[in-house]
Amino acid sequence: MCGIVGIIGHEDAAPLIVEALKRLEYRGYDSAGVATLHDGQIDRRRAPGKLRNLSAVLAREPLPGIIGIGHTRWATHGAATENNAHPHASDRVAVVHNGIIENFRELREELTAKGHVFLTETDTEVTVHLVTDNLRAGMDPVAAAQAAVKRFEGAFALVIMFRGDEDLLIGARRGSPLAVGHGDGEMYFGSDAFALAPFTNRVTYLEEGDLAVLRRSGATIYDSADRIVTRPVAITQAGAALVDKGNHRHFMAKEIYEQPEVLGHTLVAYVNAVNESIALPGPAIDWKSVSRLTMVACGTSSIATNIAQYWFEQLARLPSGTDIASEFRYRDAVLTKGGLSLFVSQSGETADTLAALKHARAEGQIIASVVNVAESSMARESDAVFPTHAGPEIGVASTKAFTCQLGVLASLAIAAGRDRGALSREAEARLTRRLLEVPRLIGEALKQEAVIAAIAQEIAKARDVLFMGRGLAYPVAMEGALKLKEISYIHAEGYAAGELKHGPIALIDENVPVVVIAPHDALFEKTVSNMQEVMARGGKVVLISDRKGHELAGDKVWMRIEVPQCDPVFAPLVCAVPVQLLAYYTALAKGTDVDQPRNLAKSVTVE
Ligand code: F6R
Repeated sequence: MCGIVGIIGHEDAAPLIVEALKRLEYRGYDSAGVATLHDGQIDRRRAPGKLRNLSAVLAREPLPGIIGIGHTRWATHGAATENNAHPHASDRVAVVHNGIIENFRELREELTAKGHVFLTETDTEVTVHLVTDNLRAGMDPVAAAQAAVKRFEGAFALVIMFRGDEDLLIGARRGSPLAVGHGDGEMYFGSDAFALAPFTNRVTYLEEGDLAVLRRSGATIYDSADRIVTRPVAITQAGAALVDKGNHRHFMAKEIYEQPEVLGHTLVAYVNAVNESIALPGPAIDWKSVSRLTMVACGTSSIATNIAQYWFEQLARLPSGTDIASEFRYRDAVLTKGGLSLFVSQSGETADTLAALKHARAEGQIIASVVNVAESSMARESDAVFPTHAGPEIGVASTKAFTCQLGVLASLAIAAGRDRGALSREAEARLTRRLLEVPRLIGEALKQEAVIAAIAQEIAKARDVLFMGRGLAYPVAMEGALKLKEISYIHAEGYAAGELKHGPIALIDENVPVVVIAPHDALFEKTVSNMQEVMARGGKVVLISDRKGHELAGDKVWMRIEVPQCDPVFAPLVCAVPVQLLAYYTALAKGTDVDQPRNLAKSVTVE
């Protein structure tokens, strides 16, 4: 999703801005641009495609100036062309924007009637003309920005640079994230602390409705009622995070292989290994009095909640439901008194999940979140925060964040089961022991890399692939399909194995591989029956199971991936690894852009 950088410094800003934008590449984008002030005048360079295209333009036509703004754009309104790329500019101001100005049509009509000429198809351009209009009406820059921001509907973070003032940037946020970086006689804006890490680790996260006026001497922050407010300066860890790929070709591969380690780090924060019990961090949740658990998320995080629903029901006997955030926020769901709403998100900034959180709060729910970015908006708006310790996830396709989310959700479910009297002390100890084994078992599963890479050569030839599983393996099937779709562009669907004969089985022929996820658990025989139905129709089955499962599955299976035997409760964490690797190697075989797949964004900060 769009990334924003702003710098008021002492040396040429454009190269620094490009460096910071590189750190925002992981969010996904399809064009980029930079604007600076040179002799007080606005000048800009923009290019469709990757940042290297912008760098090439800058190499041909350098952009001097010690103040500047930059942007990576993930297209919403208007194609990914140079003309639609940010910064957008008039003779008075240049603007970069993340989010959507929902009332842009109305504002555009109003401003066109006043003589403003619009040159792009973007919603963002109205911000330029509205601020310019306010300046022409005699307002000073701060008043012009404040008045403009009040007119915008929708979600946005934006930064404005003003002709003739080399010591001023104004940023504002509502719904989309924006951080202020404090340097020594230099000041910065960035979409996140990660972008600012090369310059400073002193960061202020702007709150909803804030507008920040940056000068070299510091920041003045106004709240939505235009009162000057003080926001804390946090010392962030973002800079400490390694952002290289290590020995791997892609961030995604590095992140898949980091899973034993980062899941281990995460579990350490939730488990008392000596007592073999769960010890949750943060404010205690009174699980006994929770009437219902509502879990809300998007994408892969939502699949984590699907798995967690089985856990909360089976281990804690807690009435539970899951919802996709974009549906939940408008569905007018009935939320019971004493209900706990749990929001799961790697970034903690996903617009739909954040809006769903606010909706649940307004409905009087207790709010908890599982997030990977400790300083994110969701974390800041929750009563209880349960962090995952996956470290920065750069590959657009989520992998290590997913398994860490599962580690946290499993811990929560065990704690809830214990506190609600559904699990004996003995059961808690047994489950805790088994959970602690999972990082090692994931390490074992990773050893199947060569087998999976060979299978991927075949999968890469397919146009459609089905994934199926039962019980806890059903969401893993959905995750396998999602991973394959997003990075290899092969059409894939994940189904509950028992549901196949109600429709999707019509798709089966020798050209449609079916990946069956069937660890040897209580539902194994039933999944095998469904697998037989597929094979009887010429379907080619790739079976993911443990040794026992493979022994019992018969010899008609096309190809096999063996995962280590583990407690069936935690099999989703272990089975996630082969589906991630299968997607990864299929994408390699197809030569697609693994870390930044087309059309996708890492952090979806628009609705
Ligand atoms: C898929 C993927 C996305 C995210 C989704 C939610 O691999 O990464 O589906 O899971 O966009 O993002 P977060 O977890 O940041 O809320």
